[in-house]
Amino acid sequence: MTTPRSEPVLVQLGARPEEAVQLFGPDARASYPADVRARLRADAEIILSRYPQARSALLPLLHLVQSEDGYLTPAGIEFCSDVLDLTGAEVTAVATFYSMYRREPTGNYRVGVCTNTLCAVMGGDAIMDALRDHLDIDHGETTADGAITLEHIECNAACDFAPVMMVNWEFFDNRTPASARELVDALRSGAQVTPTRGAPLCTFRETERILAGFADDRPGALESSGSAGEASLAGLRYAREHSMTAPRAVTGSSDDHPDLGAEAVAQTVREKPAPAPSATVPPQPTNTTETDPPTKGK
Ligand code: FES
Repeated sequence: MTTPRSEPVLVQLGARPEEAVQLFGPDARASYPADVRARLRADAEIILSRYPQARSALLPLLHLVQSEDGYLTPAGIEFCSDVLDLTGAEVTAVATFYSMYRREPTGNYRVGVCTNTLCAVMGGDAIMDALRDHLDIDHGETTADGAITLEHIECNAACDFAPVMMVNWEFFDNRTPASARELVDALRSGAQVTPTRGAPLCTFRETERILAGFADDRPGALESSGSAGEASLAGLRYAREHSMTAPRAVTGSSDDHPDLGAEAVAQTVREKPAPAPSATVPPQPTNTTETDPPTKGK
């Protein structure tokens, strides 16, 4: 027996602990005008054509509506539920799980400061404090000119360049409070800013359209900027100089490994341990300077 499809249900959830508002603010629009809806519908059809099951397109569709509004609105949630034949509750449940989907209006540049463990101890907390003072806003807030939304972000797997900032998900490595202030000043002035790795920045809404799956036409966007960074390679070099190796791969049964418990052997064999690193490590460069940070591929 199939359940008849009903009207989308929008669930009013409570705010995250650090959020000041409910899921949708009072100014969030409730529906799209016909022309906007038709344009989004045409874009959605392109996205849907890439997936064997329509509901698999939910994440890029959420980016699409975020490129329209700058954040998730009841209009965007309803649009996704209508296109994918999902309930509003289903769409909302997914949308509220991922921190990449915003629940409040977003500035042109979403400035994230990594305050996860390594970046925090390397200066991420100091950078966050400096930007709070400099911009006179708190975590999650947007400057009055609509240029900057400031956020804590979690580890983005660039710990060898700590402390790291990300602007519209592009990396800015090895930051300091001073260079962080210079960065947001440049963004607010309208200057063209290029990240440490990647193409020149575009606005948050333009970024969202790229994340929805549309072409990234920025110059250099598709070019690789090198291999592993010097900090990562230094670790490999140190390991080899000191004859350090990865843990041996466990194969066979617990009879072959009396030093390990049967459960540990079963678990390790079942999950097939990852192979040890095998990259060729280039020699240490002699001309690396502090003002010329190494790069690595994205
Ligand atoms: S802790 Fe900041 S990138 Fe990993």
